[in-house]
Amino acid sequence: MSRRVIDPGGPLRGRVRLPGCKGISHRALLLASVADGRSVLRNLATGEDVARTRTALEAMGIECIDTDGSVTVVGRGFDMISEPDAPIDCGNSGTTMRMLAGLLSGRPLDAVLVGDESLSRRPMGRVVEPLRRLGARIDTTDGHAPLTITGGVLVGADVELPMASGQVKSALLLAGLQASGTTTVREPAPSRDHTERLLAALGAPVTRIDDRTVRVGTIGALDRFDYEIPGDASSAAFLVVAAATVPGSEVTIEGVNLNPQRIAYLDVLRTMGADVTTTVVEERLGEPVGEIAVRYTALRGTTIASTEGIVDELPILAVAAATATGTSEIVDAAELRVKESDRITTTAAMLDAFGTEVRTTEDGLVVRGGPRRGATVDSAGDHRIAMCAAVAALAADGATTIGGWEAVDVSFPGFESVLATLRDAA
Ligand code: S3P
Repeated sequence: MSRRVIDPGGPLRGRVRLPGCKGISHRALLLASVADGRSVLRNLATGEDVARTRTALEAMGIECIDTDGSVTVVGRGFDMISEPDAPIDCGNSGTTMRMLAGLLSGRPLDAVLVGDESLSRRPMGRVVEPLRRLGARIDTTDGHAPLTITGGVLVGADVELPMASGQVKSALLLAGLQASGTTTVREPAPSRDHTERLLAALGAPVTRIDDRTVRVGTIGALDRFDYEIPGDASSAAFLVVAAATVPGSEVTIEGVNLNPQRIAYLDVLRTMGADVTTTVVEERLGEPVGEIAVRYTALRGTTIASTEGIVDELPILAVAAATATGTSEIVDAAELRVKESDRITTTAAMLDAFGTEVRTTEDGLVVRGGPRRGATVDSAGDHRIAMCAAVAALAADGATTIGGWEAVDVSFPGFESVLATLRDAA
């Protein structure tokens, strides 16, 4: 286990570009592997999660070649995915496991998907049960990984999901593209829509019926594509909150994904009084891309009543709440309990270590803003908790030691150096 000591102080200043969006990178790799020809992906996410998707595809015969900072994926259509020789290790990556379950359920092959301890605790019934509606044959271990997939013929269906989930919806779309007829997926609330955007940009038979319903038809193959993956909006959130909470800061993040589903956290920060602006500069394969500019201002507490589009950002919003005046509340966020860690418990433990007054509820958190002392914190093996602690440490009184720092590599291996660059530039 590696540790980091973060000293408080100093504003953050400057302009940065971030590694590619994790969610889009998974999808770009998966779709490139079933496209016809060589797709070139630039600025692919550098973290371990996306590496898991890549090695999984390589284990099934897909060639991925590194050249000058880009990855060329040699796709040869859905038919050329071959049976893996051994169980596929998805590591910590729920997105890898759930999306592969959808992709592989329509291939004539057997595969077993395994994960690390955290992933093996996370619910898989939520993806397996709806896939079974299309005829998928997948066995779980009591609703958890390992998943044993016996791929085969799928038949399109109308599927109503019990919860909004970008991963589950994407798994169904990947299965639906291989199923006969059409597949319609309906969710109780909108979830992130990177898969639909990319499929539509590539000319695949995908129709958005409304913001909660999407339909796909059968497709043999996709055209190859080149994609410069926009910067990760969730990684940006750590720097945005750092700049919004350390006096004197002024930071611009360039080339970042500005998909409304991914930057809803900025609206929460604005409600808290943050000075944040976004500018869309271009569109890349259906995704808006541009700048986020943030300047320090004092924040005030708020109630976060809807988790739509912000589930991954709730821990870092809780850090913002810890610096704000007054009390903030996060409600109706039980989904946090089934993330890489139980993030209601781990976020509260992290803030508590800094001396913040924090209380957990069944489905959320109550945080009272105030001064923080330096702390000794453990990441609980969760990348977002480790980065939250580093941000909370910047404006604490005294140094902070963060254990389990290696978890950061799951999504944002360069986080520490980006933070150092912004602090040095001040
Ligand atoms: C993701 C969707 C979200 C998110 C996860 C990535 C995706 O999970 O929390 O980090 O890439 O589609 P759910 O599918 O559980 O909502």
